[in-house]
Amino acid sequence: MPVITCIDDLKRLHRKRTPKMFYDYAESGSYTEQTFRENTSDFAQIRLRQKVAVDMTGRSTRSTMLGEEVAMPVALAPVGLTGMQRADGEIKAARAAAKFGVPFTLSTMSICSIEDVAAHSDAPFWFQIYTLTDDDFNKRILERARAAGCSALVITVDLQLLGQRHKDLKNGLTAPPKFTLPVLADLATKWRWGIEMLGTKRRFFGNIVGHVSGVEDPSRLSSWTAEKFDQALNWDRIQRLMEMWGGKVILKGILDAEDAEMAAKVGADAIVVSNHGGRQLDGALSSIRVLPEIVAAVGERTEVWLDSGIRSGQDVLKALALGAKGVMIGRAYIHGLGAMGEPGVTAALEVIRKELDTSMALCGERRVADLRRENLLVPKGFF
Ligand code: FNR
Repeated sequence: MPVITCIDDLKRLHRKRTPKMFYDYAESGSYTEQTFRENTSDFAQIRLRQKVAVDMTGRSTRSTMLGEEVAMPVALAPVGLTGMQRADGEIKAARAAAKFGVPFTLSTMSICSIEDVAAHSDAPFWFQIYTLTDDDFNKRILERARAAGCSALVITVDLQLLGQRHKDLKNGLTAPPKFTLPVLADLATKWRWGIEMLGTKRRFFGNIVGHVSGVEDPSRLSSWTAEKFDQALNWDRIQRLMEMWGGKVILKGILDAEDAEMAAKVGADAIVVSNHGGRQLDGALSSIRVLPEIVAAVGERTEVWLDSGIRSGQDVLKALALGAKGVMIGRAYIHGLGAMGEPGVTAALEVIRKELDTSMALCGERRVADLRRENLLVPKGFF
């Protein structure tokens, strides 16, 4: 068992053990990747303010997200093709999250279906929807999520069309992969991935194949969904979808205070300040830079969370100190999954919780609810 001390350790193992096509799919941003890079480099510009001689006993990272008790305010973000990083990846991630006591979100574009994940995990999870033009599909998938006991719906609002990621085009990304010579050569050193994958039947997009007529050929699926994403999505349609669901809703992918106002107006229970991990609008600002403005605009009316760029507990602390009530992580747990499967996701969560706990203590804070702007040193003109 390798010694894991930080998310970077998991990232290195992920790269070593997972087919290049899927590692690249996770570890890339759109076009020039400026936003992808700045998501992490902007966090690094914010420094923590050390406080000494403060009683640090009785600390806790526990908090709530949407009224649910969590071991720390960190949820697993929806990530498409998680079941290609490791066989049954969504089930493994959901189980690790449930045992750890944090929420897991299942993507529309997952390999394991909603029903598969529900059957293999004890805790309720959240379901993320990409709205398609086909309202019948939207309705049916919401019914399935409800029947599976999903406790909240995440509506992703920043992907009416797909941002271009160069590596995916160059690698000829498909799920499952087509066994071309370069893919086979790559798999020669990653045979464990192949054996696990052969051992599962879940190798196709479980939420879609077999549930939508005309998608019996899974290799056509990504182009099919790209065609079907709802480019006409607007606030009325979002509101209709929220009514169709009838339960708690999180709107994910907001970067602008006016959009946050609209999200609060339509009654979102939470919003996620997010640029989709730098995978959509290249050139957009990092989430952490726009967070305070959005908290100031709507923080009293809805829970404001953040994702994009979180790779450590220190990053979580910074987001919470700037007013986020919680965060989501994407790549940080995907690296864990690709590195070591379910124990890798647990390792990623352990690393982040320990870093958050230690950094809180050294900042002189004992409760996440007490974190505030004064815990940080932010360069002039940063926001
Ligand atoms: C994503 N993200 C995403 N979001 C979503 O709403 N539905 C999805 O299917 C996906 N798929 C997806 C795949 C991969 C490989 C990544 C890396 C990301 C975005 C995700 O939910 C989250 O917003 C980002 O991952 C946050 O950024 P970090 O934590 O990865 O930097």
